[in-house]
Formats: sequence, C-alpha cells, structure tokens
Amino acid sequence: MKYTAIVLAAGKGKRMNSSVQKQFIELNGYPLIYYALHTFEQSMVDEIILVTGKDEAEYCRQEIVERYQFQKVREVVPGGAERYLSVYEGLCAINNTDVVLIHDGARPFVTEDIIERTIYAAVEYGSGIAAVPAKDTVKIVDEDHLAVQTPSRDYVWMMQTPQTFRYQDILKAYEKVLEHQIQNITDDAMVLEVAFQKPVKIVEGSYFNLKVTTPEDLLIASAFVKDGSVLL
Ligand code: CTP
Ligand code: MG
Repeated sequence: MKYTAIVLAAGKGKRMNSSVQKQFIELNGYPLIYYALHTFEQSMVDEIILVTGKDEAEYCRQEIVERYQFQKVREVVPGGAERYLSVYEGLCAINNTDVVLIHDGARPFVTEDIIERTIYAAVEYGSGIAAVPAKDTVKIVDEDHLAVQTPSRDYVWMMQTPQTFRYQDILKAYEKVLEHQIQNITDDAMVLEVAFQKPVKIVEGSYFNLKVTTPEDLLIASAFVKDGSVLL
C-alpha cells in the first residue's frame, strides 16, 4: 500500500492579519508550515505533495523543502483560489497511490498517531477523518438568528485534518463535484458525502491539533510549544 499526503499551504491567511504570510510566520524559530511537514516526513506516509501559492512554489522548494531537507516531498505545486481547488491540484499531481491524506498546513501539531489512525480507517472503511468532540453547545439558527435546533452534544464533532481517503474514491468525488459546480464545499469529507452520499468515518484527532487561523491561535500555538505539550 502506498500513502500520499497533500499538505495545503496555498491560502492567503487573511484572518491572521499579519504582514508575514501565515504559513511562513515563525514559531519557535521555524516557519509554521515546517511543523506539519516535519511530522509527515517522520510518519508512515511514503510521499508528500506540498501545495503553495502560485508565486511561492520556487521559494518553498528552496527555503522550506531544501533548507530543512524534507526527503519525502516529491512535488511542490501551485494551488487554486479556493481550498477545494488547491486540493484538486494536489490530487492531480499524484501519479499513483492507494491512500491520500489531505492536511491543512495551518495545523502544525498533527501527530504520527493521528496520521496512522486516519490511514487505518481509510484502508478499512474508505475514509478516516480526524475530529474532536465539540466542547461548546452547537445551535442551528435561521436567517433571523433565531436558534431553531440544538443537536445533542454527544453527536457533535469538530472536523480537523488529516482527512484521509482511498485515492480513487476522493479523486472521482472531486471530479464529480467540480463538474457539477457544487458550491460551499468546506471540507474534503463533504466532497465524498455530496458526490456519493457516503458517510465518512470519524477518528480521534486532538485538541492540540488546532488550525492556526486568527492571531489568538498563534498565541495558543506558541504556548503549546513553550510548554512542551507538543513534541518537535
Ligand atoms: N488553503 C489552500 N488554498 C486555498 C485556501 C486555503 O491551500 N485557496 C489552505 C491554507 O493554506 C490552510 C488550509 O487550506 O493550510 C486551511 O485554510 P484556512 O485556515 O482558511 O487558511 P487561509 O485560507 O490561508 O486563511 P483565511 O481563510 O483566513 O484567508
Ligand atoms: Mg481560508
């Protein structure tokens, strides 16, 4: 079995509001994108496709892949205007594989355990999505912001990445969704659900596996590193 990771770093990081692009912000002496790449490099994954901004592929080849000697990064490819388009570019850059892990480069603290759990689930069930139980109560609201439904917290989970699939399944699902111009795709699991009405398998992620999205997330990430909560 061959396992390929797509690591996404083609976003604009608008909500971070920083002069340095989000993926290159320094955290304990390393650019943010270094962390996830480092963990995938150490993991059971065979190869990595790094998806970057259109004008940053060369910079990333030199300043990230060569500088930190990531041996498993087989290609650095330019992404698209939306996350799902970047994922599709990554999927198209894969020659041949059995299982593909799609990971947000903005989640620095993924672990080898999480990676393995998603892979084993994908092999057994066709998909493995890292997630954690919601800590807050979730309410569904209508257009007037009236709360119309409160799903039981036992059944509400927050999706993370990696989101891992059999390669042929997720490629076909993406092609179908792109062909039918289906909008508002917010994660990869949704692509499988919408394309094939297939439920995905949820596996245990971690509250440390946060997505660095806004400035306060960076404070939390830096506290995790300083405190030794995350291993480097
Ligand atoms: N991403 C991508 N291509 C895009 C948009 C997002 O590869 N066109 C990646 C980001 O680099 C990130 C992940 O998808 O690793 C999750 O996206 P998000 O946290 O929303 O990052 P950004 O889109 O960069 O941030 P923002 O939405 O605040 O602009
Ligand atoms: Mg975004």
